Amino acid sequence: MSEVIKRLNAEHRNIAKLLDLLDTELATFHAGEQPDFELMLDIMDYLTHYPDTFHHPKEDLLFSRLRQLDASSHHVVEKLRKEHESLAREGIEFRNALRGMVNDEALMLRNTLEHLGTHYAEALRSHLDTEEAQVFPHALEVLKPADWKEIDERICQRDDPLFGKAVAVEFQDLFEEILRLEADDRRQGANAETA
Ligand SMILES: [Fe+2]
Ligand SMILES: [Fe+2]
Repeated sequence: MSEVIKRLNAEHRNIAKLLDLLDTELATFHAGEQPDFELMLDIMDYLTHYPDTFHHPKEDLLFSRLRQLDASSHHVVEKLRKEHESLAREGIEFRNALRGMVNDEALMLRNTLEHLGTHYAEALRSHLDTEEAQVFPHALEVLKPADWKEIDERICQRDDPLFGKAVAVEFQDLFEEILRLEADDRRQGANAETA
């Protein structure tokens, strides 16, 4: 498999972990309890900081090559390209709403904040699913080694501040939360095996 697709898939798994965390907090919020707004804000700071400025532009390179080579991919590729724009916009809107909540600057209706978060998480999940189910397999069939090489060379790799070699100070709390959840999952898996 192409290194480009391997990296994109790995980034999808990381994004999915954050969406799971976000879903848990949104469920707490929906139940009328107090979610961890700071954790939600850290998640949205990361998603609007790294995937929106790095993961999606990488995919845009791949999509435009796929469209050049196979015109039948135009519809789905154009849909995903537009979603990169709408997800970035909606992500910033939700992040700013959370920032207002954390800093006590904004009085926002609970329903509005919940709607922003739920809509964002659903749209992003559906976006990742379409890429993985339709576009990545199609690209693997259509693109030739020279195409992958060209895309790879045009990508300027930047270190991921949460899942990369070094965790940035601003994402340390979020990173520890992810480790804690992964340890819980492993423990539950081990308990299920021995039950
Ligand atoms: Fe994408
Ligand atoms: Fe993606």
